[in-house]
Amino acid sequence: MAYLTTQGGQPVLILKEGTGRRRGREAQRNNIMAARIIGEVLRTTLGPRGMDKMLIDSLGDITITNDGAAILDEVDVEHPAAKMMVEVAKTQDDMVGDGTTTAVVLASELLKRAEELLDQNIHPLIVVSGFRKAAQKAVELLDRVGTPVDIEDRATLRKVALTSMGSKAVGAAREILADIAIDAVKQIAEKRGDRWIADIDNIQVTKKEGKSLFDSQLIKGIIIDKEVVHAGMPKTIKNAKIALLDCPLEVEKTEFSAEIRIKDPTQMQAFLDQETRMLQDMVKKITSSGTNVLFCQKGIDDMAQHFLAKKGVLAARRVKQSDMEKLARATGAKIVTNLDDLKRRDLGAAGTVEERKVGDDKMIFIEKCKTPHSVAILIRAGLERMVDEAERAMHDALSVVSDVVENNKIVPGGGAIESEVAKEIREYATKVGGREQLAIEAFADSLEIVPKTLAENAGLEPIDILVGLRSAHEKRKGHLNGVDVFTGKIVNMERSGVIEPMAVKEQAIKSATEAASMILRIDDVIASTKPKEEKGPGGMPEGEEY
Ligand SMILES: Nc1ncnc2c1ncn2[C@@H]1O[C@H](COP(=O)(O)OP(=O)(O)O)[C@@H](O)[C@H]1O
Ligand SMILES: [Mg+2]
Repeated sequence: MAYLTTQGGQPVLILKEGTGRRRGREAQRNNIMAARIIGEVLRTTLGPRGMDKMLIDSLGDITITNDGAAILDEVDVEHPAAKMMVEVAKTQDDMVGDGTTTAVVLASELLKRAEELLDQNIHPLIVVSGFRKAAQKAVELLDRVGTPVDIEDRATLRKVALTSMGSKAVGAAREILADIAIDAVKQIAEKRGDRWIADIDNIQVTKKEGKSLFDSQLIKGIIIDKEVVHAGMPKTIKNAKIALLDCPLEVEKTEFSAEIRIKDPTQMQAFLDQETRMLQDMVKKITSSGTNVLFCQKGIDDMAQHFLAKKGVLAARRVKQSDMEKLARATGAKIVTNLDDLKRRDLGAAGTVEERKVGDDKMIFIEKCKTPHSVAILIRAGLERMVDEAERAMHDALSVVSDVVENNKIVPGGGAIESEVAKEIREYATKVGGREQLAIEAFADSLEIVPKTLAENAGLEPIDILVGLRSAHEKRKGHLNGVDVFTGKIVNMERSGVIEPMAVKEQAIKSATEAASMILRIDDVIASTKPKEEKGPGGMPEGEEY
């Protein structure tokens, strides 16, 4: 129950019975704790030596990964502040596609340091404003330290891709996946003005169990996970003229049951002939447009299949809408919803359309398309879990390569950039002075959570590593020094090939700061619905008053 108390000490009930309320420090403490728990969960997965999580969903399906976005996607988070941390990972994933763990771990560390400041009676708004100033400064510094990369600099793009896959269980196939990712992104990249745009949504990633990761390949075109609908149809068509249909090639059955009295056998035949004729007409409309390949989003009647086969048309039915859209984009075809509207100019073109056996299934490959910008990646691996992890690795590799292509700057990984920015921000803090200085310094300390966690996860002594990093960064040109998690040494990260897109670091800092600030600004939590029995971490206990 929630009361306000009048001066006379008389409690006044203003909120509905059962409403949970928490205020002031209590609310803050609770929110910070819940958010930090999410950070703690992800922390052990950071970096190439991070551990994996095994996630079991309500149906018993198992996912094993150390991908921050994938983990938070699977866990059902209840606490509102914890949900904000999940949002951090989502934003990071949507914006730049990598660095999700980093963003969440950083937000969590910012909150931990903020809490220490709150305990020293520093107002949350001062902490927030210090954090924001520091984040702003950090973004400027990143830009200053970042090195520009040319889209043709394949060696560098390769290192960026390899670094992003460092923590994925794809082993030696990493190199092949990196090459595929670079080729794919370069294929879809377009120059607009003096900027490159590389929208990886244009890259179709298809996975199929079987063979090994080394058999993964890049297809200049698209892949449809369907087979040719009729055995009598051709399996390969050169110079394909492609029709995309969004209507069934079936004779519509009436919704009510009608009784037809047939008096002699000729009438029966006429009735059946009628249906056949309608289907034949439909097929004629298709073939007379010049179509030799048909993708239909709906069903195709057996009889229609037969007629199409006789005309030498390759057809597939029940094609997914998203695939229809990709086909439209790749081949230049228009999706037609009414068969009568199908004209020659609606057809798309492709050099070849071919059904091939992939693993135990058959898939249709559409290659040498009208727009060379459409590409597909076919991921192969022996185990389902492996295919899934490879898909996530590919997602990261594609993301980072496109980040670099679009944004063109790179920064050293292995905690190097975080250590450098922390150092500069500490210097900046002294210039700001006052109580805000403490918040800015706390921000700098928080950045060091990245090298610290990388070291911890590698079984190294985090304090030693931090001390080593700090002294390395004091030296001239020391800004590239980070921790090599395999040797435990502090080395030049650019030289060891551990480099990341600047955009990933920038976004991680921005979204972590935003989330931490948002959580810190809350001083009152009023929960009107009855909290569920099953509480998430730090969930509000039922019926208690705060
Ligand atoms: N070989 C390496 N040595 C040291 N650090 C590395 C290496 N490869 C990657 N890293 C670091 O690992 C971190 C990324 O880890 P990852 O598990 O992919 O988390 P995220 O979800 O944040 O991308 C980055 O800080 C990156 O610099
Ligand atoms: Mg990563």
